[in-house]
Amino acid sequence: MQLPKKAEIIEVGPRDGLQNEANFISTEKKIELINALSNTGIKRMEATSFVHPVYVPQMKDASEVLAGIQRNPSIQYMALIPNEKGFERATQNNVDALSLVVGASDSFNLKNVKMTRDESIKKFESVVAKSNEQDIFLRYNIATAFWCPFEGKVDSALVLDMVREIDQSGVDEIVICDTIGKANPAQVYDLLSRIRELSPNALITAHFHDTYGLAQANIIAALQSGVTRFDASIGGLGGCPFAPGAAGNVATEDVVFMLHEMGIETGIDLPSLLSCVEIVKPITNRNLTGHLHKVKSTQPQNESEGIK
Ligand code: COA
Ligand code: ZN
Repeated sequence: MQLPKKAEIIEVGPRDGLQNEANFISTEKKIELINALSNTGIKRMEATSFVHPVYVPQMKDASEVLAGIQRNPSIQYMALIPNEKGFERATQNNVDALSLVVGASDSFNLKNVKMTRDESIKKFESVVAKSNEQDIFLRYNIATAFWCPFEGKVDSALVLDMVREIDQSGVDEIVICDTIGKANPAQVYDLLSRIRELSPNALITAHFHDTYGLAQANIIAALQSGVTRFDASIGGLGGCPFAPGAAGNVATEDVVFMLHEMGIETGIDLPSLLSCVEIVKPITNRNLTGHLHKVKSTQPQNESEGIK
């Protein structure tokens, strides 16, 4: 199997993970989690989002969270924004990078941000221009890039058109998101290979949810297509409030474990990551979907020292 020597994991738990939690998680707990994740070797993190507090109340303390965390200077702290208002709020709160989101499918985008796909893209033009002027790192998420919860399978030609347009607009990273976690490895390999062919110099990241248990298989398929950057969420938290049925993101600790077992470096310390899962457990009402935290030890019994 052709495998890279290194892969990059981008932690999205504090944003994608927590946004879907029904009970409000205190600002202090969010800060504790982000600070702990900042000591694991993770280099990039979606820390929060500047969205409308009525639609996503869990993220209403975005400013307080960013003001309260202990910034690790080697980490890029990102915030997701849905529009220009989000840009204004985020840039007043000292973020290192912005994460824009547009759904490939109109029905999802309308539910998510009350705009059609084209309206969102148009609205983001000024955000991209201003970010470039201010030298702010931009990641552009294409949500529902494989499946839409309302329209079914998404036409890959449409996603390729979006990638072409976005790549030419001056963003730094394009994230291909399986928002409802329904993509399969063949579909992932096909779309990501075509994207890599179309935009060989673009920084492409894959974002998988694990609704059908296919996320790790999809990561292998993505690696085969040459993509080496993956979003993941601590414990497997997550889901989108506007994508019914979507389960959490692939669990960060599971991805790191798999990659390390395959000899792929991530720079992340697995025991530190597992201690972050312990912070997450009491703050969610759900059973965490990650596997690794349930494993007592992966070492042969007589040399067991815990998970490495
Ligand atoms: N943050 C806070 N308030 C915002 C905002 C933002 N990013 N964008 C708009 N608003 C405010 C406006 O200032 C306006 O306030 P006012 O009534 O006091 O004048 C009000 O919201 C309505 O503005 P409008 O542009 O019409 O927003 P909307 O009601 O059409 O909602 C979004 C659009 C994008 C703000 C909303 O759908 C949203 O926040 N979606 C988030 C989706 C999300 O987080 N999904 C999960 C991650 S992918
Ligand atoms: Zn997601």
